[in-house]
Amino acid sequence: MSQHEWEAHASWWQEGFTDGADPEYEEQILPLAAEHLRGVTSVLDVGCGEGQVSRLAAGNGAGRAVGVDPTWAQLSVARQRGGPPHYGQADAAALPFGSASFDAVVACLVFEHIDAVDEALAEVGRVLRPGGRFLFFLNHPLLQTPGSGWIDDRILEEQYWRIGPYLVEDRSLEEVDKDVLIPFVHRPLSRYVNAMAAAGLLIEHMEEPAPPPGFLERAEEYKEAATIPRLLFLRAIKP
Ligand SMILES: C[S@@+](CC[C@H](N)C(=O)[O-])C[C@H]1O[C@@H](n2cnc3c(N)ncnc32)[C@H](O)[C@@H]1O
Repeated sequence: MSQHEWEAHASWWQEGFTDGADPEYEEQILPLAAEHLRGVTSVLDVGCGEGQVSRLAAGNGAGRAVGVDPTWAQLSVARQRGGPPHYGQADAAALPFGSASFDAVVACLVFEHIDAVDEALAEVGRVLRPGGRFLFFLNHPLLQTPGSGWIDDRILEEQYWRIGPYLVEDRSLEEVDKDVLIPFVHRPLSRYVNAMAAAGLLIEHMEEPAPPPGFLERAEEYKEAATIPRLLFLRAIKP
């Protein structure tokens, strides 16, 4: 089902979030990825979309950058946007690579769309060489739980960030734009951390950056909530 929706709406992602269109990518996500990919020579970008992280990895010095995604409408644009990365069609839960074949694996805003989380993280652990690193970008699972948001209660004169039902694992089709329905899976953070541990991935670094200035300039409704992170970044190592 994810693939069907992504095939239909890949252009929504490409137009709004790639090629310089999105301040969170430009000011925060891509710089973080570049910093943590430094020194890495082979990179797999799982759920690569139209390839913005794969291109960054290649431009950052990785001699081998490979992107995989199940969605043809993403892969065809990735190929149009050009090399050096190589692209292939694959689901995160069945990566068509040998064991221990990459220095680094990146998954950028992808696991929110993946049902088979344990299988996909096990695949990340398998294709990483010992000592390799996993860069994991997620919409913040706690603070962006579905149903979360800024509340301005004029009767009680309280302003606060409400958190939705965090512990409930939940799959929903979200209307992210007019007539654009994308499947999202919410899981508590412990679900990810324990699945990573089971896959032999040990977390060694975590960031919860404040929303960047370019995002806050555009998102009037988020101004009051500038101390609430939207992004969670984890770097794990395969010992
Ligand atoms: C929000 S986009 C992110 C794309 C890219 N990582 C980026 O940062 O620009 C999510 C991507 O996940 C892909 N995807 C959905 N289900 C997937 C799965 N089971 N395995 C791998 N990728 C998947 C979609 O096709 C889509 O390209």
